[in-house]
Amino acid sequence: MANYLVTGGAGFIGSHLSEALVKRGHRVRVADNFSTGYRHNLRDGVELMAADLADPAAARRAVEGMDYVLHQAAIPSVPRSVLHPVESHRANVDATLNILVAARDAKVGRLVFAGSSSVYGDTPTLPKREDMPANPLSPYALHKQIGEQYARMFTRLYGLETVTTRYFNVFGPRQDPTSPYSGVISLFIKALLAGTAPIIHGDGGQTRDFTYVANVVDGVLRAAETPGVGGEIFNVATNGRVSLNELLAVLQKIIGTNATPVYQPARAGDVRDSQADISKAERLLGYRPTVGLEEGLRETVAWYRAANGTRPSS
Ligand code: UD1
Repeated sequence: MANYLVTGGAGFIGSHLSEALVKRGHRVRVADNFSTGYRHNLRDGVELMAADLADPAAARRAVEGMDYVLHQAAIPSVPRSVLHPVESHRANVDATLNILVAARDAKVGRLVFAGSSSVYGDTPTLPKREDMPANPLSPYALHKQIGEQYARMFTRLYGLETVTTRYFNVFGPRQDPTSPYSGVISLFIKALLAGTAPIIHGDGGQTRDFTYVANVVDGVLRAAETPGVGGEIFNVATNGRVSLNELLAVLQKIIGTNATPVYQPARAGDVRDSQADISKAERLLGYRPTVGLEEGLRETVAWYRAANGTRPSS
């Protein structure tokens, strides 16, 4: 049994990580300021610390006695960061630096940083490999690049073991569909279940490597536990790529509707194509995505149906 801090543990990905850790018999502390997380996402057996990690003292309290830190707390939205860069910077960069300093001082065994595929930007080569140069197109992408570089630097300068997991468009149960900044899959499902028209920004030809959350949980826990990977960065994804138009067609088939989408202008800071090379995680972490896109979408639709299509709950 080990002691895990999950920052952002009341959020979508953080709550799945906390749940998996509790199931494995670990002690789990969640630190969350509920800026994008919800109390109803918290699982039994988790210790809650309501804390804003942009406050260095709160970050210090959060890591006390912890062996591992899974730093998931963020304002995870490209468009929100374009509209509110200062607010996003505080949550995504200031809090990350504070948690790194606190983890260093508390001699935490390893910190896993939630990175993002957005750091690749529009680099033309697909699939994206971890050693390609970053080209952030939005404040959010830049924040995630700064976070992973800080994490690596803390490994080199101070010997704090850090690993970055670059997520690619994660989806699944408990993803909040209630904000205009929500992930596209949650918004599409919400619209289709409500019988309203899904919105597509741009021509719908943009592609993503949509990754079911159970695959991410597996990748992150491997990143935390695998010896000898301190300072490394890993794509955590599926190596698949579908366009938004294709995604919508699959969801229409699963839900049994053919609502026509409304096409709106493309979003500022949007990336055209995204697909991960996952061979590094396969090789060094033994990672394999086990839940495919359609299976993951079916699970997710079933969950939103049970949750009434609008409100995330258990
Ligand atoms: C980006 C990052 C991802 C990060 C996420 C946080 C890339 C490639 N990915 O996701 O790593 O975790 O931000 O938010 O940069 N869209 C619609 N209709 C909608 C909503 C969105 O057409 O109602 C479109 C967007 O314009 C975009 C695509 O769907 O082209 C995906 O959008 P979204 O789910 O917000 O994620 P990304 O911005 O790709």
